[in-house]
Amino acid sequence: MDHKNKALWSGRFAESPAEIMQKYSQSLDVDWQLYKEDLQGSKAHGKMLHRIGILSEEELQQILKALEEIEEEVNQGILQPKISLEDVHMNLEARLIEKLGPLGAKIHTGRSRNDQVATDYRLYMKKAINDIKEKVLLFLTTLLERAEKDIDVVVPGFTHLQHAQPISLGHYWMAYFWKFTRDLKRFQAAYETTNVNPLGAGALAGSTLPLDREFTRKELDFEVNSQNSLDTVSDRDYLLEFLFAASTFVLHTSGLSEDLILWSTSEFDFIEPPDAFCTGSSMMPNKKNPDALELTRGKTSGVLSSLYDLMINIKGLPLTYNRDLQEDKRPVFHTIYTVNMILDVLTPLIAGIAPKEESIAPHLNKGFLLATDVAEYLVAKNVPFRETHEIVGNLVQYCIKHHKTFEDLSLEEWQNYCPAFEKDVYDILSPQLAVDRRKTFGGTARSEVKRQIQEGKTIIEVFNA
Ligand code: ARG
Repeated sequence: MDHKNKALWSGRFAESPAEIMQKYSQSLDVDWQLYKEDLQGSKAHGKMLHRIGILSEEELQQILKALEEIEEEVNQGILQPKISLEDVHMNLEARLIEKLGPLGAKIHTGRSRNDQVATDYRLYMKKAINDIKEKVLLFLTTLLERAEKDIDVVVPGFTHLQHAQPISLGHYWMAYFWKFTRDLKRFQAAYETTNVNPLGAGALAGSTLPLDREFTRKELDFEVNSQNSLDTVSDRDYLLEFLFAASTFVLHTSGLSEDLILWSTSEFDFIEPPDAFCTGSSMMPNKKNPDALELTRGKTSGVLSSLYDLMINIKGLPLTYNRDLQEDKRPVFHTIYTVNMILDVLTPLIAGIAPKEESIAPHLNKGFLLATDVAEYLVAKNVPFRETHEIVGNLVQYCIKHHKTFEDLSLEEWQNYCPAFEKDVYDILSPQLAVDRRKTFGGTARSEVKRQIQEGKTIIEVFNA
C-alpha cells in the first residue's frame, strides 16, 4: 500500500480499495469547496482539545499555524486533493499529519467525519443563506423602486389570463414584493434551523473524552448545541428547509418571468425588456427574445428536483449516519448556485424594464374591465348586487353584439337595462379612477399602494438592521 496516500482508516484492512472503489467513494468533486469551513472546525476543535488538556499550548499553536498554512496552500492551488483520501476532511487531516507528524495525528481526537461533515456543512450553509438573503433584500428594494415608479401606470389585471379589472402596475410589483418577502422569511427560518452546533456528537454516540461542546459552539458562533448525538449525525432536515425556501422562491420567479414574457410579446406589448437581458436569433433578424426570463422559468425544474432529490435520499434511512448522505451536497450546491444566478439576473432586469403606456392604453378598453365598477355603481343606487351582476352581464352581451364599449352607450341604452342608471355613470368609466377607487386595505388604489410601499420599506430596514 502506498504509504503516503493510504486511507486514514486503513488499519482494519489487509488490502487497499479497488481503484474503481476510490472513484466511487470520493466526494471531492463536491465537498472540496468546504475546505475553509473544515479548517475553521479543526481550529475550534483543536482549541477545545487544548482547553480540556489533550493538547499543550505549544502543540495547539503549532496546529493552528499549520492549519493557517494549509488554508493558504489550498487558496493558492498548491495543495491538490487526492481521491485516495476520499473527501475534504481526510485530505486536510492527512496534510496536517504530513506537516506535523504525530502531533497532526492528534487533531481527530474525539471527532468523527460524521460530526465533522455536519459542522462544515452547517457553517457553509449559514454563509450561503446569508448571501442569498442579502441578494433577496436587494431584489426586494428593486421591486419597491419599480412600484414607486410605476404606481400611476394602469394595466389590465387578469384572472384565468382573461381581462378582469384595471390595476396599478405598482400594485403588481408589490404583489411580488410580498411573495419574495415571505421567501426571505423562509430563508431566515432555514438559517435558524441551520444554526446548531453538531461538533462533539462524534460518530454517533458522543465521546468518552470530556469534550466541551459549549466551547466549540461559541468558537464557531452557533446559536445552540444539538441535543442528541444520533439525531445530529443523521439530521439533514435543515437542508430540506433551505431547499423548500429555494423552491418557493423559484416558483415565484417562474410565475413572474411568465408574466413578463407574455407582456413583452407583440400581442400584449405592455413592456420593453432591457436589451442587455435578451438575445437575438441566428436566422431571423427581427427577433428580440426574452431569454433571461425563459431561462429563469426553466431553471425552476432543477431547484424543485433538488428538494425531491434530498427527500428521496433521506427516506427510509436507518439511524444514524449512512453513506447515502454523502449525496446530500450536489443538489444543495446546485440550488445555491442557481438561486444566486437568478437573483443576479432578475434584479437588474426588473430595474431595466420600460412600461409602454401608449400600447397598454388600447388594452384598457378591451374586455369590459369596468364591468364590476358599473355593477357596484348600481349597488350604490340600492340595487341588490346579484341583480346588478345580471344587468351588467346583459349589457356586456349587448355591447359585444353591437361592437360597442360602455363609453359608446347612450343614457337610454343604459336605462333600457336598469332605470337606476343616471348621467353620472359616465363619470366612473375611467380605468385610472377605477384603480383609485379601490381603497380597500390591500387594494390597488394609489393610496393603498403607497401604504404598502411604506410598509415594505420598514420591513427592509428591519431585515437590514
Ligand atoms: N464524505 C463523507 C460525507 O460527505 C464524510 C463522512 C464519512 N463518514 C463515514 N463514516 N464514511 O458524508
